[in-house]
Amino acid sequence: MAIDAAPTRTLPFLRKLTRHARIPVNAFEEAGTQADGELVRLSMGPFRPYLVTHPDHVQHVLVRNQPNYVREGMFWDPLAPLLGEGIFSDGESWAESRRILQPLFTAKYVNSLAERMAELIHELIEETVVPGRPFDVAEGISAIVHPTIVRLFFGAKISATDIQRLVPAYDVAVTAKAIRLVMPFMPAAFPMPGDQAFRRAIRTIDDVVYPPIRQARAEDQEGDDVVSRLVRARRDIAGQEGERRIRDDLVAMHGASTETSATALTWVWPVLQAYPEVAAKVYEEVERVVGDEPLSTRHLPDLVYLRMFVNELLRLYPPGWILPRRAVATDVVGGVTIEAGSTVLLSPYLTHRLPRFWDRPLEFDPERFAPGGEAKRHRYAYWPFGAGPHVCFGQHLFMMEAPLLIAGILRKYRPIVHHNGQLTPRLASSLRAAAGLTMTLVPA
Ligand code: HEM
Repeated sequence: MAIDAAPTRTLPFLRKLTRHARIPVNAFEEAGTQADGELVRLSMGPFRPYLVTHPDHVQHVLVRNQPNYVREGMFWDPLAPLLGEGIFSDGESWAESRRILQPLFTAKYVNSLAERMAELIHELIEETVVPGRPFDVAEGISAIVHPTIVRLFFGAKISATDIQRLVPAYDVAVTAKAIRLVMPFMPAAFPMPGDQAFRRAIRTIDDVVYPPIRQARAEDQEGDDVVSRLVRARRDIAGQEGERRIRDDLVAMHGASTETSATALTWVWPVLQAYPEVAAKVYEEVERVVGDEPLSTRHLPDLVYLRMFVNELLRLYPPGWILPRRAVATDVVGGVTIEAGSTVLLSPYLTHRLPRFWDRPLEFDPERFAPGGEAKRHRYAYWPFGAGPHVCFGQHLFMMEAPLLIAGILRKYRPIVHHNGQLTPRLASSLRAAAGLTMTLVPA
């Protein structure tokens, strides 16, 4: 096995975490700036993961030598009771889930869902928005995103009351383990704050999803929703094992689609407020393209600037901000030897902020995504949806959902965000905006 040309640089990370105790994401950002694309180790006491940010290295780990980097260890193990043994696992059980689920998310199938999604989003905006009344941004966006996805995926199999139980349960499930992200050296058996709340949340989620799964299996339903399709695909696995495999994929899919979308769409409003020139262009385009009509998929191709805006939003605030992997065998990346069994941290959040690949990286500028711009970029300088065999297959769905929700609101309202003026990320499995962000929607 090759030996390092030079010793690997190690950054003292625990000290950074202590300094940025209130916003731990900033400790990662500082480490990313110091590494500047170089492959480094982060010293967290006995635990010293490798930090991979350079696009060439991202390509190596996620694409070229992907089988060597598995989704195990930090982040994945604590979340295993939520995500189970399905699409968010690795190896054969992941491959089987991917074979079953991917055909659900072809552009053709997603397009066929789109008009229904537009109607649902329209109805939910009408139902939930009360002009002039301040509301919690994350809750308000979730109140639109969750029911939309649940109705698309589950058909009518889950009641409105049960959706209301699912939303806070998922919220707890993805935030309760955050502390383990910054203390990954803590053994799973060692109790930590949030563990109990996490277990309660899993019980609630299971209470809601198992009954419709059992019913769909008993009736062998023909429907085209995700539950029916999963039930048909798993017909050969009898009893509780079959139920559990369906549950794992369903819960993982639901989490993957609602948590990421809702998180991304929470950032829209403080960004619009912080960049008035960008906001003016978004508003002008929505007025010109949509006017007073109810928004439908036929407007989407003409909302060009809004699409650029969403891409830039995912550059600076990618919900899947940290993706850990475990190296199976020793490997050499960028001249650095990565030892077998060690943890490798990848982060679109950090890659998207590298000055070598992005001009004025911290500035929000949708023009970077003007049509034709990708040709000038490194293929792996921008990867909010991951890359390689595990690449997100919900991206097409999200790139329809996002303009439908944003333009659906902006065709009638303008946001006034009440906060301390900072775009501050909060530590969670996804890149959440600061807790307690509130806004008021006023007539446009
Ligand atoms: C803003 C929206 C979204 C973002 C930023 C996002 C991001 C990501 C990322 C970074 C990955 C790679 C995970 C890894 O490599 O370990 C991923 C995988 C995945 N995403 Fe998304 N996602 C989004 C929306 C969605 C939606 C709407 C769905 C559902 C329709 C979805 C379903 C999935 C699934 C099932 C995987 C796992 C794929 C696999 O491992 O084979 N995502 N997503």
